[in-house]
Amino acid sequence: MNLPPFKLERYFAKYEFNTEYLLCASDCESVSVSDLLAMEKGAAEKFQQVWLGYTESQGSPALRAEICKIYATIQPEEILVHTGAEEAIFLFMFAAFKEYDHVIVHSPGYQSLAEVARAAGCDVSPWPAREENGWALDLDELRHLMRTNTRAIIINTPHNPTGYLMSRADYEAVHEFARENKLLLFSDEVYRESEYDPATRLPAGCDFGEHAISLGVTSKTYGLAGLRIGWIATKNKKIYEKMASLKDYTTICNSAPSEFLAEVALRNRTKLAERNLGMIRNNLAIIDDLFTRYSNLFSWIPPQGGSMAFPRLLKGDVEEFCDTLVKKAGVLLLPGSVYDDARNHFRLGLGRKNLPQAVDRLEEFLKNY
Ligand SMILES: Cc1ncc(COP(=O)(O)O)c(C=O)c1O
Repeated sequence: MNLPPFKLERYFAKYEFNTEYLLCASDCESVSVSDLLAMEKGAAEKFQQVWLGYTESQGSPALRAEICKIYATIQPEEILVHTGAEEAIFLFMFAAFKEYDHVIVHSPGYQSLAEVARAAGCDVSPWPAREENGWALDLDELRHLMRTNTRAIIINTPHNPTGYLMSRADYEAVHEFARENKLLLFSDEVYRESEYDPATRLPAGCDFGEHAISLGVTSKTYGLAGLRIGWIATKNKKIYEKMASLKDYTTICNSAPSEFLAEVALRNRTKLAERNLGMIRNNLAIIDDLFTRYSNLFSWIPPQGGSMAFPRLLKGDVEEFCDTLVKKAGVLLLPGSVYDDARNHFRLGLGRKNLPQAVDRLEEFLKNY
């Protein structure tokens, strides 16, 4: 297996825990254990009683029952809980693919969605999100990317890093295309339930049938990355069984305290999501105002969901800009090069409480740029 460095994670490793303002985080503002437990009467006492032995490998029945409520037709035995969404991506790729398979991957995107497929022996074709089309994917391009050995399509909506939300018509067409061509559709939905207009929320992929696998996590919309609880939901028994069997070689089972806390969090997921969406909306207005005042420096396509945007720097080199900004002003932005983007974009995070202060610092920096 050949896995190159995860560019985004390596960039974060340099700065995440020693920089004052993370203005590029993909996860929303978190809460403390005590704040989370306070959301439910009796939860703090129950947490003290959590047994610290091994847990059920597929995830505790209570947690899986709670996760099911996110979906329309999914049963607890169709949920497999993992350590973060990252473990689920890893196991899915190795469960679903063999050498010389071909997969089509939404691009730019979260690196492991393409890289782990490559490490599993696949030939990967990027399916490009086009800025000139508001970061939309083109269905005609999908048809042209098809080969006889194509095994899967991998999409992510709401999208990291652009905040693009696929239209219902396109989404249904992608499912139809996957079904007609007997492809798997891996639908990374880790930013689902953070659509700015709830009417635009797409149905979960797994509810479309056996060809689809939905990926979920507590990290992003709900702001609980430290729990490291992710899952897949699928009616595809073959993929489920293979992933469950591979999990015996990675984490075996999940952290018992995290499973309990995730159960409490998901029972209160609407409250958590609304709190974070409120923050995103305020932050979007601040960024919109900044970009209007500095329209000579930035252009952007405002996101439609999730906690990120992918603006473009119009003057200078974005890597140098981010590097100087973090060193001089203590504000971290993520250059698009970590996504192999060559068009001067950078990732902006919208889900953190201190964004107004981070933007003040950024603006001070911009005055001399
Ligand atoms: C699109 C996407 N999928 C999966 C993940 C992995 O999530 P986690 O770090 O919670 O495992 C991320 C994290 O940034 C992501 O943006």
